[in-house]
Amino acid sequence: MGRVALVTGGSRGIGEAISKALQADGYTVAATYAGNDEAAAKFTAETGIKTYKWNVADYDSSKAGIEQVEADLGPIEVVVANAGITRDAPFHKMTPEQWHQVIDTNLTGVFNTVHPIWPGMRERKFGRVIVISSINGQKGQFAQANYAATKAGDLGIVKSLAQEGARAGITANAICPGYIATEMVMAVPEKVRESIIGQIPAGRLGEPEEIARCVCFLASDDSGFINGSTISANGAQFFV
Ligand code: CAA
Repeated sequence: MGRVALVTGGSRGIGEAISKALQADGYTVAATYAGNDEAAAKFTAETGIKTYKWNVADYDSSKAGIEQVEADLGPIEVVVANAGITRDAPFHKMTPEQWHQVIDTNLTGVFNTVHPIWPGMRERKFGRVIVISSINGQKGQFAQANYAATKAGDLGIVKSLAQEGARAGITANAICPGYIATEMVMAVPEKVRESIIGQIPAGRLGEPEEIARCVCFLASDDSGFINGSTISANGAQFFV
C-alpha cells in the first residue's frame, strides 16, 4: 500500500483528475465530495477509489471524516485541498450569503481540511500539503471578489504553513490553475468564456490532467525543497 492521499472535492472536475493521477502513482487515495452521491458512486465504481461525504465548510464534519479515512486507510501523508465553489456576481450585486458561502467553503474549508491532519504530519515528520488556488487569486476577476479573496488567501496559508512545517519534514505549496475545461468554467456564459479563451496565449483551456501532474510532482519525494511556492499553470495568461 502506498502513502495515503486525501483529495477534497476529489470525485469531479480537477479533483477527479488529481485522485486518478495520485492513484496511478501508487498512492492509496480517499476522495471527498459534498453532495453528488451519483457522481461519487460512479467515480468509485470506475476507479476503485473510496469516497467520503462531508462538507469541508464544517470543522466537526471534516475532523470526523478525516478520522474515519485514517481508521480505514492509515495516516494521511498527502492532503490536497481542492474543494471549491463559485458564486459569481459583480460586487454591487453580491449578497452576504454569496460572500460567506464562498469564504466558508474555499478558505475556511482549507483550514478545516488541513488542521486535523497537521498534528499527525508533525509527529511523523513527513507531510505534503497542496492547496488548489487559482489564477484569479493572483490577478482578481470581475464578479469574483469572494472567490478571488479565498484564492489569494490560499497563498497566504501555504506560505505560513511552509515556515511552520519545514523543520518537521512537511511542505505546503499552492497550484494556481488558469481556466481549465471543467464544469465550473463551462458554467460561465458562452460569450464570456469565448472572450476568456481569447486572453489565453495558449489559445485553449487547460486540461484537468495538466493540474494533476503538478500535484503529483509536489506530492513526490523529489519536491522536498520546494516549500511555500506557487506553481502557475495557465497557458501564459498571467505572470506574477
Ligand atoms: N470585465 C469588465 N466588464 C465586464 C466583465 C469583465 N470581465 N464581465 C462582464 N462585464 C460587464 C458586462 O459587459 C456588463 O456591462 P454593461 O452593464 O455595461 O452591459 C456588466 O459587466 C455585467 O453586468 P450584469 O448586471 O449583466 O452582470 P450579471 O449580474 O448578469 O453577472 C456575470 C454576470 C456573473 C458577471 C457573468 O458575466 C459571469 O459569470 N462572468 C464570468 C466571471 C468569471 O470569469 N468567473 C470565473 C469562473 S471559472 C473559475 O472561477 C475557475 C478559476 O479558478 C479560473
